Amino acid sequence: MPLTGPNSSTTTAPPHKQRRLSPFDPPSPARRHECSKHRINQRMLTPNRTTRHSAPDPSYSDSSYSKQLRKRNHEKMSPDEQFFQHQNRLQCLKKLYPSIGSGTNSEVFLCGNKVLIYPKNPLSTADGNQTKRNHIEGVLNVSHLADMQTMDYAGQDGFDYLLAIRNHGCPHPDETTPSQSAETINSLSRHFRETVFNDLLLSLRSLHQHGYIHRDVKSENLAYNRLTQKASFIDLGDIYNTDPCKLTGTPSTAHPIHHAYLFSNIIDQELRDLIGILSEYEDKIKTITNKRLHDENTFIQLENTLSKLSKDDPNFDKTTKALASLENILKNDFDKYRFYLSEKNKHLNEYQKLKPYQKDNLPPLTIDLWKKFDTYSLHITELSFLLSQVYKTFQKSNPTLSQAADKILTTHLNDSYNFLWKCEDIEQNINDLLQSIDKDTSETKTILSAEIQRIRTLNQLFFSVKNITDIPTAETLLPQIVTPLASSDSSETSSEDSVNSTLPAELTTTTVAEVLPSPSPSPSPSPLFKPGSTS
Ligand SMILES: Nc1ncnc2c1ncn2[C@@H]1O[C@H](COP(=O)(O)OP(=O)(O)O)[C@@H](O)[C@H]1O
Ligand SMILES: [Mg+2]
Repeated sequence: MPLTGPNSSTTTAPPHKQRRLSPFDPPSPARRHECSKHRINQRMLTPNRTTRHSAPDPSYSDSSYSKQLRKRNHEKMSPDEQFFQHQNRLQCLKKLYPSIGSGTNSEVFLCGNKVLIYPKNPLSTADGNQTKRNHIEGVLNVSHLADMQTMDYAGQDGFDYLLAIRNHGCPHPDETTPSQSAETINSLSRHFRETVFNDLLLSLRSLHQHGYIHRDVKSENLAYNRLTQKASFIDLGDIYNTDPCKLTGTPSTAHPIHHAYLFSNIIDQELRDLIGILSEYEDKIKTITNKRLHDENTFIQLENTLSKLSKDDPNFDKTTKALASLENILKNDFDKYRFYLSEKNKHLNEYQKLKPYQKDNLPPLTIDLWKKFDTYSLHITELSFLLSQVYKTFQKSNPTLSQAADKILTTHLNDSYNFLWKCEDIEQNINDLLQSIDKDTSETKTILSAEIQRIRTLNQLFFSVKNITDIPTAETLLPQIVTPLASSDSSETSSEDSVNSTLPAELTTTTVAEVLPSPSPSPSPSPLFKPGSTS
């Protein structure tokens, strides 16, 4: 039977798509008539080539002409005008799109499944030669839209996952139930960590093989998409910049030499201060030595007199007491002298340790050196995930050990003294932690055996290495073997959880709405702070 209905009529012509008129189309007959009525030159109705670019707003066009025009307009503006124009645009974006992140340099908005990265500083994005690059395997594409960047949504950022592990023992606390065993929760975290750091190692390898570098690897600049179960680097605005002298980084994840490059002025100042302290010690040591020599002579003279006296002095006790107190004075002086000497040596050692990080002594910045910095940063980021895991898992069974792990974690994130810590104590602190773990007799140790092994490996590969040339690069490292996710403890979990664990990732209770972040919620309060980057 033939179908009948409103669309089956043969008499109605299919509606054809009407092209939108552009300002360059010839004016319509009606418009021409209007013009002749008012004696307007019809040619003025169609803009010619020279007026074309000034007519529409070129703010978001990415043609090279628009870029040049923008640059010229920008140069013509006063710094205040530039600032207000920039702020106006930011306010518009805030009204239009939900904000999903804010870094040191950018405000980031979600726009469908893309993110829009708007620079905080009007001049921070090069508005010029952004040439198109080939896609790099495993690395998200960034494109430039006027003075902004756009890229695919990559997932929740790593710092949120780090906090979730530290606070709940699991990167996705909403996927766990209170009755789940420590083993199950730990296996979720372990699977997450191995997947994330494997993906990132492979991405870094691809990036390095193409001769590019990231320069600011840290938890805030990695993201994991729960829907695709893929981790990727974000903050890629600068990856195609092959100039090794372009400095970017974050103290907490920077290798000491990378750190020294970022803060060479401070290190040079610290060295000057140390020299000051050393000369102060020299003076004190001289004074005390002189005093002692003087007292020694006095002592000998006195001793002779007293021994003579003691022979025929009836009050022998009094003489011995006087001698003893004299001895005491000299001994105290000698102790002081030794203390000053040891302080001097301490500062001298610090001075010697810092000297290689003085501006003039740093090795030249090359792409190969950056590859080592990137790889170091990736692995110190992984260490922070491992330490969060150790902190949380041992929290009940061995609070002292748990606190030791947290102390390393917070020292690592503390910008003000993590440079010296990385030069001197990181290896020692990790070894101390591993020793405490060895001594621990609780079950927790077995649950965490893979994490503990990984901390050992990282310490050997990166943190006990004194020479930068011995730090491996992503291209030379083997990826970790990702352990399959242990199925949830059947006895402990609800039947809904068991169903979810057997379904493919796309069909589990995790919905797209959960995978894409909602614009407002902020992570739960925690003493950990996001370390800021420099660029
Ligand atoms: N592609 C992306 N997918 C998901 N979140 C992103 C993406 N790009 C940036 N973000 C979020 O925005 C934050 C700041 O972006 P980022 O590019 O790192 O700026 P900055 O250079 O200022 O650090 C990130 O830490 C992350 O939370
Ligand atoms: Mg960032």
